[in-house]
Amino acid sequence: MDKPIRAAITGLGATVPEKVLTNADLEKIIDTSDEWITTRTGIRERRIVSDGESTLDLAVQASRNALDDAGITDPSELDLIICHTVTPEIPFPATACLIQKALGSSGTAAFDISAACSGFIYALTIGQKFIETGTCRKVLVVAADTLSRFTDYTDRSSCILFGDGAGAVVLEASERSDRGVMYTVLHADGNGWDFIHVPAGGSRTPASRETVDNHGHFIKMRGRDVYKFAVAKMQWLLGDCMEKCNLTPDDVDLVVPHQVNIRIIESAAKKYDFPMEKVYVNIDRFGNTSGASIPLAMEEARRNGKIGPGSTILVIAFGAGLTWAGAVIKM
Ligand SMILES: CC(C)(COP(=O)(O)OP(=O)(O)OC[C@H]1O[C@@H](n2cnc3c(N)ncnc32)[C@H](O)[C@@H]1OP(=O)(O)O)[C@@H](O)C(=O)NCCC(=O)NCCS
Repeated sequence: MDKPIRAAITGLGATVPEKVLTNADLEKIIDTSDEWITTRTGIRERRIVSDGESTLDLAVQASRNALDDAGITDPSELDLIICHTVTPEIPFPATACLIQKALGSSGTAAFDISAACSGFIYALTIGQKFIETGTCRKVLVVAADTLSRFTDYTDRSSCILFGDGAGAVVLEASERSDRGVMYTVLHADGNGWDFIHVPAGGSRTPASRETVDNHGHFIKMRGRDVYKFAVAKMQWLLGDCMEKCNLTPDDVDLVVPHQVNIRIIESAAKKYDFPMEKVYVNIDRFGNTSGASIPLAMEEARRNGKIGPGSTILVIAFGAGLTWAGAVIKM
């Protein structure tokens, strides 16, 4: 009998824009303080795109880094490109098609998905299924977002949170049973669609002078409601991933949570007695970069020697939709 095929991560890449937006910068434009932001969120600074930069620029750079890491010199070897973004280059066509053009892999299938901060895990799961079913051998999964483009810098309750970035992985078919995406779990609850959303610019409320005047193209967020839901779901995800894969905290090398808020991350870790040394946190320097946050953190964790070949990592995320998702990965 043929051995089951697994989706192994053979390449990992990430990037952030150069421009830094610190809490001190925000103090100059809204009524806030570094102390308030740091205590409530753990964020000290974030990276945001400059004029002329875009989601596509970040996505292409992260993709190139992941392809280099995988040793793929000819991008036309890719069978599929999946891009998660809630901040696409333009409303359509898909940002994935623009990435494909930039990489020069004409003919490779390409599409976008949208699952907000859970988007990387959703896209990873789709890529995993394409590989495990034997449909594809090599898949590029990219998560790229420029939330700063949709952030209302007059709304102090939300603008402190968001940053920009992109991360990408190359998935390849592998017959090794001890390597790859071992487990994924995806959920959504559309009843909470308005917890975090952008009201205008879609088919129901297209762009108009009024939508611009009313700040309708910016993120609206019910912060306290999001917080409560996120704590519950991040805790649940950690428990589910360990239970389904028969793992204890001792078996896990690193938890890489969506960088949503240090207090939410700590509450999930505490529930299962995960020492914080086993939980990767870089929210202080990048803020919440939506779908990009997990691959960005994974790439940094590997560079810092926290994970390497053979490591078992748990990734968990929560986001608009509402969506929540988790995965267990053997590097
Ligand atoms: C946004 C968040 C940091 C706010 O923290 P909080 O402890 O819930 O704060 P509250 O919203 O209860 O506000 C408390 C007070 O701080 C004030 N406040 C809000 N933002 C502030 C800021 N940037 N600086 C100073 N004060 C602020 C509020 O006006 C409120 O004042 P009041 O008590 O006089 O009314 C927190 O709710 C959160 O992180 N939620 C999750 C959001 C999220 O992660 N979204 C993305 C999900 S992927």
